Amino acid sequence: MSILVLGGAGYVGSHAVYQLIDQGFPVVVIDNLQTGHLGAVHPEARFYQGDIRSREFMRSVFEKEKIEAILHFAANSLVGESMVEPLKYFDNNVYGTQIVLEMMKDFSVKHIVFSSTAAVYGEPKEVPITEEAQTMPTNTYGETKLAMEKMISWCEQAFGIKYVSLRYFNVAGSREDGQIGEDHNPETHLIPVVLEAALGKRPAVTIFGDDYETEDGTCVRDYIHVEDLIAAHILALKLLQQGGESSIFNLGSSQGFSVKEIVGTAKAVTGIDIPVKMGERRSGDPSTLIASSEKARQVLGWNPTRTAIHQIISDAWNWHKQNPNGYQR
Ligand code: UFG
Repeated sequence: MSILVLGGAGYVGSHAVYQLIDQGFPVVVIDNLQTGHLGAVHPEARFYQGDIRSREFMRSVFEKEKIEAILHFAANSLVGESMVEPLKYFDNNVYGTQIVLEMMKDFSVKHIVFSSTAAVYGEPKEVPITEEAQTMPTNTYGETKLAMEKMISWCEQAFGIKYVSLRYFNVAGSREDGQIGEDHNPETHLIPVVLEAALGKRPAVTIFGDDYETEDGTCVRDYIHVEDLIAAHILALKLLQQGGESSIFNLGSSQGFSVKEIVGTAKAVTGIDIPVKMGERRSGDPSTLIASSEKARQVLGWNPTRTAIHQIISDAWNWHKQNPNGYQR
């Protein structure tokens, strides 16, 4: 029996595949390589290139492989893009998940660990954000992830599918050996953007607004190391395999860092005086997002070990330095 990783050639999914294989799980990967990279697929995973929206393709994989559980990372995930191309997000994310659930029903697969996001909460009324906070997404991306969560939960009632939904805060870092890492095109996330500026791949980092109601005026986010994030997925998978109930968990560090603090730490890690310029606010950015991850610690026994901000940035730097052009080596 294998674990099926949907989106296993992407940034977060590829880290999941590596850790599952480290722990001895047989792994099947599906990815359409729209944003994923062939070079990110673990050589020991059985890889099928194709789209989760294709019933025929999905059925052919489920017929060939014995799938025990699914980790679902296959989605479009750019907030800005989701506002100008909302239907692409409903199609790929929501409709894609519908096909995944159909396959789970038809092939009696009962467990799914789902990649969700802090974007389901929207502008928080209280910080730190607990899983009980109101879900009021302010962008299409968050709306589609919330719809996917709800679709899965209705399928629990109808077909007995058990799920764990993990709401990520800001994921960064890379596997310690720098073999796999973050490679988006275009890159929009703060930490890789700052490191690209350190490498001279872009002239400067633009700070999107310094007039927020935060200590230094720049936005505060909760950064979580991708390796710790994946450790929580494997704990969630084991919880389901041991008969645990369906559940939702936030994954963050419960600590906030401002954009200026991230740039300052990146300067210290790289030893490079990274050029910075001030820019306008980016529309839709909440000023402060910090997770309460107490529930994941208590219920999953999750204990993040690499999530110190210096560690996150130095692991990311290790990847970027070794692979300045990402997977195009
Ligand atoms: N930022 C800059 N300059 C840049 C890039 C980002 O100042 O060049 C700032 C942003 O304004 C924001 C912070 O850095 O304040 C972090 O921005 P990211 O784009 O790295 O991440 P977000 O917080 O916007 O988004 C993250 C995830 C999304 C998820 C969202 C949940 O990447 O997938 O959290 O709110 F939806």
